[in-house]
Amino acid sequence: MRFFGLCPQNDDVTNLSPLTTHHSLLIIKAKKFLIYNISMILITGGAGYIGSHCVYELLKHNNDVIVFDNLSTGHKEIIDELKKYRDFKFVLGDLKNKNDIDELFKNYDIDSVIHFAGLSIVSESVKNPKIYYENNVLGSLNLFNSMIENNVKKIVFSSTCAIYGDPDYLPIDENHQKKPINPYGKTKLTVENILDDYDYSYGLKSVRLRYFNACGASTEINIGEWHNNETHLIPNILKSALTNKNTLNIFGTDYPTKDGTCIRDYVNIEDLINAHIKALDYLGKYNSTNVFNIGTGLGNSVKEIISECEKIHAQKIKYNISPKRDGDPAVLTANNNKAKDILKWVPDKMIKDTILSAYNWEKYLLLRSIKECNKT
Ligand SMILES: NC(=O)c1ccc[n+]([C@@H]2O[C@H](COP(=O)([O-])OP(=O)(O)OC[C@H]3O[C@@H](n4cnc5c(N)ncnc54)[C@H](O)[C@@H]3O)[C@@H](O)[C@H]2O)c1
Repeated sequence: MRFFGLCPQNDDVTNLSPLTTHHSLLIIKAKKFLIYNISMILITGGAGYIGSHCVYELLKHNNDVIVFDNLSTGHKEIIDELKKYRDFKFVLGDLKNKNDIDELFKNYDIDSVIHFAGLSIVSESVKNPKIYYENNVLGSLNLFNSMIENNVKKIVFSSTCAIYGDPDYLPIDENHQKKPINPYGKTKLTVENILDDYDYSYGLKSVRLRYFNACGASTEINIGEWHNNETHLIPNILKSALTNKNTLNIFGTDYPTKDGTCIRDYVNIEDLINAHIKALDYLGKYNSTNVFNIGTGLGNSVKEIISECEKIHAQKIKYNISPKRDGDPAVLTANNNKAKDILKWVPDKMIKDTILSAYNWEKYLLLRSIKECNKT
């Protein structure tokens, strides 16, 4: 199977078989596609929120993917939903067990890896750093060791803006100081440092994508953000609105921002996934390590997001005001010039469309849980 990467030089779409008519149309529309031969792409964490959207995008373009996940925060139902689109191999396993990963590389002809698997709840990481270091650092180390032992040398890694800590200036660029203020951010920075050393000594090439706030859901199939312990703003606003339970909290209303609430950079999930496709393409083309901020460069305050949700819900959404949380900077926005210049990545989704997609997904989740309850 093949990976269809974006390439500026190529306008020739005549030799893009084997493709279904549907796929051909997609490719022809995008025109500037070049094929890199990638036999199989391993997606760790593909049953989770961001990973599942990436799996879908790769399947859509006829790539051969293998998903590895321990389902600690991911969902088998998401795998089943993806399989309705096209079948692929799902392996239940844990990155903390090196044997599980060794088996993968032994049994499949894996060419490159997109590494989403990780734990990512800041408060949990403060309470229990041990599980974060074991899962995110040891798990990643097991993966990288297995990769180099099996001569697999290309990886895209899900990093985070949390590695920067409190911003010295805005928008944050990739050269900003790295001084994470919680164990979660520290685990991600540690993994980035390991990747630098593994590039230098073993030639493991990585593209690290430092995401800002991922949000929204697929507009094509039934997958979306599904965290049992949800800490993200948009799903929490929508859950509160749809269940009418008034569970929404705003943490701090006296920040030095236009309306007193925190400003964050919300990046649409489909735009975010597009960055991964471009990152894979970059690795195929340049075989070189790099790092990119993935955010819109724009910021929305908590109150602005609530107001956008109210427009879609067509009702006022109630909230409670709670004290500021430790370690929440007033503003976090990305300087995304590097991703635009080098990857040619351009986020183009509007926040209202992103919220609409999240709204539709939350309604689906709610109906699903009502149906489940009625069954029991
Ligand atoms: N969601 C965001 O806004 C955001 C922002 C910055 C960075 N990130 C990073 O992106 C990645 C994906 O985030 P997400 O929101 O999709 O999270 P998620 O919890 O929905 O997905 C993570 C997936 O990894 C799996 N997993 C975790 N530990 C594993 C292990 N040891 N072995 C095998 N599988 C394991 C989980 O079961 C889950 O399916 C994470 O690494 C996260 O740190 C996310």
